[in-house]
Amino acid sequence: MALLDVEDLSVTFARRGQRTVHAVDGVSFSVDAGEVVGLVGESGCGKSVTSLALMGLLPKQPGLRVGGKAVFDGTDLLQLDDRSRRDIRGRDIAMIFQDPLSSLNPVIPIGLQVTEVLTRHRGMKGAAAEKEAAALLDRVGIPDPKRRLKEYPHQLSGGMRQRALIAMAVACQPRLLIADEPTTALDVTIQAQILELLKDLVRDSGTALVMITHDLGVVAGMCDTVNVLYAGRVVETARRRPLFREPRHPYTVGLLGSVPRLDAGRGERLNPIPGSVRDVLPWPDGCAFAPRCARRVDECVGEPPALVLAHDGRSYRCVNPAPAPGTVPTPAATAPVVDDPLASAAAEATASPVPAPREEEKP
Ligand SMILES: Nc1ncnc2c1ncn2[C@@H]1O[C@H](COP(=O)(O)OP(=O)(O)OP(=O)(O)O)[C@@H](O)[C@H]1O
Ligand code: SF4
Ligand SMILES: [Mg+2]
Repeated sequence: MALLDVEDLSVTFARRGQRTVHAVDGVSFSVDAGEVVGLVGESGCGKSVTSLALMGLLPKQPGLRVGGKAVFDGTDLLQLDDRSRRDIRGRDIAMIFQDPLSSLNPVIPIGLQVTEVLTRHRGMKGAAAEKEAAALLDRVGIPDPKRRLKEYPHQLSGGMRQRALIAMAVACQPRLLIADEPTTALDVTIQAQILELLKDLVRDSGTALVMITHDLGVVAGMCDTVNVLYAGRVVETARRRPLFREPRHPYTVGLLGSVPRLDAGRGERLNPIPGSVRDVLPWPDGCAFAPRCARRVDECVGEPPALVLAHDGRSYRCVNPAPAPGTVPTPAATAPVVDDPLASAAAEATASPVPAPREEEKP
């Protein structure tokens, strides 16, 4: 059994006089100790709401409904009372938040916040804790760490606050770390340093890491398994290599096709997925990606696509997936039904998907 098993997680925000938002709609995934699992998708697809639901940190607003299960080491996190949840959060599970300012205490110096974690989790005190706190700030690329330890969060830049938060999460040596866009605000050299630090944590402490990001470069460098989210649902799950080489869900194909490539010819244009998640809200019956999908066929509308388990261990929700390399395309795949301008644009955008993998790279 995995360390964390998320099963059919759903989060709904119902507001009087406004449409109900199904922010997370039946999400399932699992993470083993020492594994890095990615949650990837465009802005608004439910990544942060998923992580906040797992941590029990969604705003307690009227109309909030959370369903499903999130079993961590035998305990369903969604059934815990506030106190037990706080205990498990402090002891076993840590999170790096997308918004660092809201998760640091504004009236306590950074140093005290880091040493408190070291005292609570690793029994370190006094000069030893201070020395380790300075070393951690140094490892996350904060210059002059001894001086910075005495400063308050508002005296640090946004990027430095993010790094201080990462230092605190690493200091806990948690069994599970959920990192929500941990490096988005950072420049590339610091980003590389932070990703190395997180990899060390996974390797040395056996931490299970849930990496939330929209950056496919981060996914390529970090994740063992990737869950692609669209409109609150996991639309494709695969190990990293097969996913990058042979994406099956048209949304995954589009995501990979929209990334700049070093081997692209001069003047070659990027292929963004037309429209956005927000354009298609409220999500249609059937496949939520249908309004943007170049491979849409009649069967895509009506019921949400069932989960298909492929022989190579991957799964996807699509009735007309991109053909697996070496297979003969189905008639539907060669003649997608496109009857609106948005979908026609999608057809062009996904007409040149990721190149077929080189033979020797196949898993
Ligand atoms: N408190 C809330 N009340 C109502 N709707 C919400 C609330 N929080 C989030 N949502 C909605 O839930 C959906 C998913 O939001 P979420 O923050 O999880 O997106 P995300 O994938 O993390 O995006 P980003 O990449 O921009 O961080 C969005 O449509 C958002 O507007
Ligand atoms: S082919 Fe159909 S089911 Fe598959 S992503 Fe496109 S619209 Fe959705
Ligand atoms: Mg987010």
